[in-house]
Amino acid sequence: MQKVDFELDAPVLLPEQFTSHKVRGMYLLIVGERPTWIVLNQAEYEAFKELVGGATVREVLKSHPQETVSHLLAKVHQAKFYREDTSVRRTYPPKLTLYISNRCNLKCVHCYAAAGDALPSELTTPEWLEVIDQYSQIAQSGEVTISGGEPTLHPELGVLLESVANHGHRSVLFTNGTTGGGKLGWNTLGQTVDVIQLSIDGFDEDTNDEIRGKGTFRKVLQTYETLYDTRTQIRLSVCAMPQNVDSLRNGLLQFLRKYDPAKKIGLILSPTVVAGRNENGTYAFDYPELQEAIGDSLDEIWRSGWRFPNTFQRNDHQPRCGIGSSILIAPDGGYRACTFAPISGNVRQQRLADWYSTTQERLEHFNVDNIEMCKDCDLRHICLGGCVVKMGHRARCTSSGPCTPANRNFYYEKLVRESMVLFGER
Ligand SMILES: C[S@@+](CC[C@H](N)C(=O)[O-])C[C@H]1O[C@@H](n2cnc3c(N)ncnc32)[C@H](O)[C@@H]1O
Repeated sequence: MQKVDFELDAPVLLPEQFTSHKVRGMYLLIVGERPTWIVLNQAEYEAFKELVGGATVREVLKSHPQETVSHLLAKVHQAKFYREDTSVRRTYPPKLTLYISNRCNLKCVHCYAAAGDALPSELTTPEWLEVIDQYSQIAQSGEVTISGGEPTLHPELGVLLESVANHGHRSVLFTNGTTGGGKLGWNTLGQTVDVIQLSIDGFDEDTNDEIRGKGTFRKVLQTYETLYDTRTQIRLSVCAMPQNVDSLRNGLLQFLRKYDPAKKIGLILSPTVVAGRNENGTYAFDYPELQEAIGDSLDEIWRSGWRFPNTFQRNDHQPRCGIGSSILIAPDGGYRACTFAPISGNVRQQRLADWYSTTQERLEHFNVDNIEMCKDCDLRHICLGGCVVKMGHRARCTSSGPCTPANRNFYYEKLVRESMVLFGER
């Protein structure tokens, strides 16, 4: 546990308002507006109450063991569970995602884009460059993700990446890792792209290849190994579904131990969404199912020292589910406010800045502070009110029906579990 220095004779300025829940014998205290939270055991909670009452650290130390108080203060500090926190993030410059072509060499069974053939009337390279220019007029030091289809098959990927870099943006490339990296090759991509996200949907050959196609596991692994020592930050993208859950449960930690000795890669583990080639939901999964199926092995991965952003962010005051935080451009120039939102306009008819500002206004009623069902819930800036597109105002992790007490309990449990793992309490 991190040791933190506090002034002995001053009160610790703790939040005046927070909600409190007893979960797994622990006290979960949440400042929902921010959001931040801490998870305390009984002894820490008793000391905490004295601090909230205005006692100084020295006074609290008179009636509580030093170890209890220092654990408590470490938790307070880690969560920034203070009265004021000026570091809370409240503004979100938009990111840009370019689906530069629908063309793909694979036919993954669950692909939301149903990628395969190029669409009629895809944007030309000068048109994509114009999109990047227009984005740069509203975002400095932004982030541009290039996806598809399979973007490494695009003959002018290099020109687009160069423009992204010349405008000072961070570049992210989503790829299936099976193409040799196209004209540029993986080595060059690894030295020039800031983040390369490789898709892998199973940690054994059979499981992955059943979903992504024969031979893909070996190829993506080879690409991973080529990229591992280049400049890029590797991120693995894994879609969880009933078909690969055993492989994730049994193989993920082993994979990390073998292939990520430096504990430096990122991992995005997401439930598979019902869309595109997965329209009938054959490969669907949602968060509680995912948690139920592999929660224990994810805990083990945390305990072993990997930290993935698959967790809830503190002091990050997001207004709603990810919709509207990115500007997504379909291969033929259609605008979307998120991957699963319908097309609403086209870059050939409307300037990016105009589309963005009208979209932000249209999305205001999805702000969790405005949604009737969410506005008084202490989880609202953590669960973010659920997927606007798929589920209306229902919570993100419920696949049917509106948000329920069981759904909220899932989140409370998860916050407590995560903290207990992090602080070595389970
Ligand atoms: C559509 S692919 C395009 C980029 C590239 N061809 C690739 O395979 O990574 C982008 C990401 O979406 C993920 N994906 C595909 N279908 C999905 C679905 N139904 N739900 C969630 N993610 C999905 C893929 O696994 C991949 O990581």
